[in-house]
Amino acid sequence: MIEFDPRDNPALEPVLTPVLKSASGSASGPSPGTDAPTDRDPAAEDLGAADSAQATAVAMEDTLLTPRFYTTDFDAMDRIDVTPVRRDWDELIGRMKQDVNRKHFKKSADWDTVDWDNMEPRLKKELIDFLISSCTAEFSGCVLYKEMKRRGSNPDITELFQLMARDEARHAGFINDALREAGIAVNLGFLTQSKKYTYFRPKFIYYATYLSEKIGYSRYITIFRHLEKHPENRIHPIFKWFENWCNDEFGHGEAFALLMKTDPKLTSGVNVLWIKFFLVAIFSTMYVRDHQRPVFHAALGIDVDWYGEEVFRKTSAITKQVFPITLDLDHPRWKKGLKRLQQASLQVADGKRRGGIGGTFTRGMGMAKAATAFVSLYTIPANRHDVPVSSRMEPAY
Ligand SMILES: [Fe+2]
Ligand SMILES: [Fe+2]
Repeated sequence: MIEFDPRDNPALEPVLTPVLKSASGSASGPSPGTDAPTDRDPAAEDLGAADSAQATAVAMEDTLLTPRFYTTDFDAMDRIDVTPVRRDWDELIGRMKQDVNRKHFKKSADWDTVDWDNMEPRLKKELIDFLISSCTAEFSGCVLYKEMKRRGSNPDITELFQLMARDEARHAGFINDALREAGIAVNLGFLTQSKKYTYFRPKFIYYATYLSEKIGYSRYITIFRHLEKHPENRIHPIFKWFENWCNDEFGHGEAFALLMKTDPKLTSGVNVLWIKFFLVAIFSTMYVRDHQRPVFHAALGIDVDWYGEEVFRKTSAITKQVFPITLDLDHPRWKKGLKRLQQASLQVADGKRRGGIGGTFTRGMGMAKAATAFVSLYTIPANRHDVPVSSRMEPAY
């Protein structure tokens, strides 16, 4: 799953866009925001995508914090040599090939009926919004991984991406099934052809995708464990599927950890600053986005601040397997900075809605506030630690 694109947070655009643009220059890659290749093999055939103009329109909006599609320098990825991590690599691929979740993503007797018609309208809107954004995140992963499989010739790399694309197609398809019950479905085939593709250098793909997979695991398992204790808050049956599901995401994260392990330069020197950048951008983006769904979280009985902290702590503990730093979540500036960023994003949205000179001014002020908050978060000294020789880890939450 690709849970995130830092440019999906307009309040942060003045900081994130120039930084990523200046750093993504590559002779062989297309420019950022490029159109989809026309010879694309639409991944929708795996998903049985149904049509609905409404949901597709929502997913098509490049609005606040909706996932985007990525493309990268596929030749560079093809040159990866996994020899330094061969043992862990073969073990991981072996486990993925066993495919223990082969039969998991099917509705069973556990799938309770959802009373969409009588659901409180705001809850219904936020739940559907959650499902659509999750579906697009899963599908973003599917498209990128499938493309890597298609363009590559390195047998290790193509095998891995084939297996991960298989999982993500199932995940997206399963959410799409749930959405269809609510009378809507994202037309995924149409999305692949019409969405803008964002170019990222391979190392940015590693950082962003690795973190997306691990934060995706942490999010799903935190919700699952909470609802185990509070089944009365399970507003939709899909959450029952999250335990086995998040183990797929954990495994995908393991694969990216190993890819980073093949080249020590990726996690040392100036790249540590990039790692920190992605940590701050991804954590803060998640924080802002989750605060946009207050009714959804209240129905689940989840305090959004508690949830964010849980997910950040789990993700931080996991990323020690490969990153030499973690963010200092106990620093007094951390929570303050996140709150300021959240307020700034509300201000930007408000300015945008109002329009005119006044609206533009409000928006500009919001963006300046967001930029200051981001710099404040980024400049908190990080915790440093030693990285283990083997990145191997089991899902333990
Ligand atoms: Fe997934
Ligand atoms: Fe995944």
